[in-house]
Amino acid sequence: MEAHLLEWLHLAIRWVHVIVGIAWIGASFYFVWLENNLDRQVKNQELAGELWAIHGGGIYHLQKYKLAPATMPKHLHWFKWEAYSSWISGVLLLSVVYYLNAATYLMMPGSSVSPEMGVFIGFGSLFVGWIVYDLLCKSPLRHQPLLLGMALMLFLTFVSWGFSQFMTGRAAYLHVGAIIGTMMVGNVFFVIMPAQRNLVGAIEASTTPDPALPKNGLLRSRHNNYLTLPVIFIMISSHFPSTYGHEWNWIILLGLSIVSVAVRHYFNTRHNSQQFLWVLPGAVLALLVMAYVTVPSIPSANDKSVIGNATQKVSNVTADQAFAVVATHCAACHATAPTHAAFATAPAGVIFDSVKDIQRHKDGIYLQSVVSNIMPLGNSTGMTQDERDLLGLWISQGAKLK
Ligand code: HEC
Repeated sequence: MEAHLLEWLHLAIRWVHVIVGIAWIGASFYFVWLENNLDRQVKNQELAGELWAIHGGGIYHLQKYKLAPATMPKHLHWFKWEAYSSWISGVLLLSVVYYLNAATYLMMPGSSVSPEMGVFIGFGSLFVGWIVYDLLCKSPLRHQPLLLGMALMLFLTFVSWGFSQFMTGRAAYLHVGAIIGTMMVGNVFFVIMPAQRNLVGAIEASTTPDPALPKNGLLRSRHNNYLTLPVIFIMISSHFPSTYGHEWNWIILLGLSIVSVAVRHYFNTRHNSQQFLWVLPGAVLALLVMAYVTVPSIPSANDKSVIGNATQKVSNVTADQAFAVVATHCAACHATAPTHAAFATAPAGVIFDSVKDIQRHKDGIYLQSVVSNIMPLGNSTGMTQDERDLLGLWISQGAKLK
């Protein structure tokens, strides 16, 4: 019952998180696009540019002011709650998924760090991350956007490597994402909003706005724009065990981040020039290379390096032997009626009730439990390497039923 309610709570929070996240990133993409597509050849001296668009059966005429209209409009729309609600729902999601059951979801199996300490470090890192980033942006590096970006990437890679030493791959990735998300929302709350309030306040009081503030705001909103694609990958990363479950998971994350930031750069600049067009085929190539270097080695029946232990003990693994391992280590969760308290229904819909079931899921078993140790979750059932080898051998021998 409790597990069932928790699942629905999880569902509600995740749903909200994705909705408000779409609203936030969608608005961010839209305004960058708007800025890049403004027609700057306007007669009206007050305007920086204008743009005509058609959408949903209506024609829109948008105008951007150099500073502000002579009288401020009664309703000026601010875009901030998309950002704040993304962060709040994100922290709730992090808590429901990773902190309520930290021993299973957060901590790497066999880690010497306690789950409480893991939660403390994980949650604390959101704030430390913001402080480090904010200091970087205020340091002399702020005059060198490329160097600043590289310093930030270095910092996040260090954090990602650090997390991967004691957290599960999924949790490590998600925490890097949460740190980036916190930087982005911090930019909105601490830098962009105050700059906008200063601007509007100055216009209403007919004084000159502080010129440094919008400049800072622009820098931070650029950062947010570049950070969106890596964050979106991290949000969906838990579907991809070959990334977070790989022993070099932190390098894979770095690779994907560099690729996605470069792609963002192409889209940000393509209105002025196509000089970064090469990024697109480059990105495809980079993904192919990453797919290639992360390919799990499929052991043959005689491959002693991967399944050496198993071959020393048994040369031929029967389906019953393989099923016995799965029944011991997986069935508490992956059954039509799980006995594990945390699950009301089989996680990911994966059920191992019979030998036929494990044959059908052999690829999943191979990825999750043989070439990586993602499953059993948190190795809560204490699966040994010998048992993983045995499953690997059964699969490499063709996963035969008899
Ligand atoms: C403590 C509970 C638990 C145990 C024990 C467990 N799993 Fe899982 N398993 C999960 C959860 C939770 C998920 C869903 C993960 C997610 O959200 O993507 C999952 C997902 C899976 C998936 C699907 C992954 C995907 O991305 O589609 C496979 C395959 C799998 N487990 C195999 C195994 C095998 C094999 C074992 C035993 C060696 C095992 N599991 C033991 C909880 C468990």
